[in-house]
Amino acid sequence: MLTWALLALFLGFLFWVSRKPSGLPPGRWGLPVIGYIPLYTTNIGQIISDLRKEYGDIFTWKVGGQVLVGLCDYKLIKSTFSRPECQGRPKFFTFEVAQLHTNTGIVNAVGDVWMQGRRFALRHLKDFGMGKSSLESVIQYEAVHLAKSFEATSGKPVEISWNVNVAALNVLWKLVANRRYETDNKEITRFNEAVSSDVEVTQTRCLPLDLFPGLHKILPKFILHGWMKVDLLYQNMEKLKEFAMEIIKEHEKNFDPDNLQDYIDVYLSETRKGDNKGTIFQEDYSNLAVTICDLFVAGSHTTSSTMRWMVALLATHPEVQKKMQSEIDSVVPRDRPPSIQDREKLPYTEAVLLEVMRFSSLVPLGIMHATTEDVQIGEYHLPKGTGLFASARTCHRDPKYFERPDEFYPEHFLDEGGKVITRKEGFLPFSLGRRQCLGEILARMELFLFASCLVQKFSAAPPEGRTISPISDPTKPFLSFIEPYEVVLTLR
Ligand code: HEM
Repeated sequence: MLTWALLALFLGFLFWVSRKPSGLPPGRWGLPVIGYIPLYTTNIGQIISDLRKEYGDIFTWKVGGQVLVGLCDYKLIKSTFSRPECQGRPKFFTFEVAQLHTNTGIVNAVGDVWMQGRRFALRHLKDFGMGKSSLESVIQYEAVHLAKSFEATSGKPVEISWNVNVAALNVLWKLVANRRYETDNKEITRFNEAVSSDVEVTQTRCLPLDLFPGLHKILPKFILHGWMKVDLLYQNMEKLKEFAMEIIKEHEKNFDPDNLQDYIDVYLSETRKGDNKGTIFQEDYSNLAVTICDLFVAGSHTTSSTMRWMVALLATHPEVQKKMQSEIDSVVPRDRPPSIQDREKLPYTEAVLLEVMRFSSLVPLGIMHATTEDVQIGEYHLPKGTGLFASARTCHRDPKYFERPDEFYPEHFLDEGGKVITRKEGFLPFSLGRRQCLGEILARMELFLFASCLVQKFSAAPPEGRTISPISDPTKPFLSFIEPYEVVLTLR
């Protein structure tokens, strides 16, 4: 009897301490400890869409120990993500592993470390050509090289895989370390494998560790390392950091203050100025190493996956592909690849690329933010530490913004005069506000030069008698990579 009474008392206490604080937006709170975990589906996009239908454009979802607030309206996301007190990151286990458990780098860093790192990277990556014509020849070289790699398999079914990753990686390597790799280079293969495996494990098996803080401390090793592959996550991070460190050491050895050639050089130069107290420029270079990993993790698979979506969507929409090809043919002679100067004269091509980004919603929930202090959003009060996610996919499929939300329809990005609309309400593939993707101008430039060069040279089609389904795995919540497919690229 006493046991039952104590149990009831304990449960009552548990419900009381874990009740929903007043002021949060309406939504699902669920049970103590577990929160709300729907059993009807593992498709997070579906859950968010259902919560939005039930509660509107802002709702609360407590899942595990994390209190998350979902934002599903473009204007609301824009205003919230421009506020300084909404620029934190939630305390997710995988975010912490990516930073090697210290506040470093850019993507997962917070506060002053984030601000310093972001400013320094933006300034100097631009100095080395990010978004400028000086980088064009580097990207064009990779584009032509990529197109060449498909010539040997012209007319045969192929997967668009490794060579697209190398092209995107090489552009980053040029900016960061002034180097370039061939597709068969063992170092870059290992580097890419570590990035891929990191992305895969983070959004699948390790997800419960993000949602239930402290779970990694109590789970038995055979679950943690055997099933969840946490040791693989650490090994990948160590591998990436080691690789970055080796390159930093090489740069140190050959450092010439009068000839700074890349991002690592300017970072070393800043560090050597001395008096670095309270700055990110520490002599152990751990911040630089994590920043390098961040740039590669954030900038390589995103660009190459968008390319994979594009080829699949063109192969399944031959009328769009034809229109894009005739536009390119009318502006660019066949004996040279398209250049940035041609961009203005290729509005349909640009519209196709923007539509690929809308349709694929590659980062459907953005990267989660968190409040760094108590915040008032309209009538709602969000306590410090509340997770915030911007549902880009919901905006991208909202008929309020897009005439045919579920179709691949490049005209979404053309005005009545046929001019391209690059900034459109409802469109946020790179997120919005103060943490908006740092590599957006680079990504847009790469996508334009890679895509226009490929489409100028090849026509894409599904292999004879087969179809291509441009869909992603709905159970992977953070990155909507297209399901692997084979396509026939035929030289024109
Ligand atoms: C199609 C390609 C890309 C897409 C769709 C994309 C998308 C995004 C998104 C949605 C975010 C989250 C922003 C937020 O926290 O609100 C982000 C952050 C970031 N991206 Fe990209 N990205 C792409 C390419 C790149 C490239 C090429 C780079 C490399 C320079 C890059 C570097 C970063 C960095 C460093 C951040 C973290 C920014 C911060 O926390 O302040 N991204 N990206």
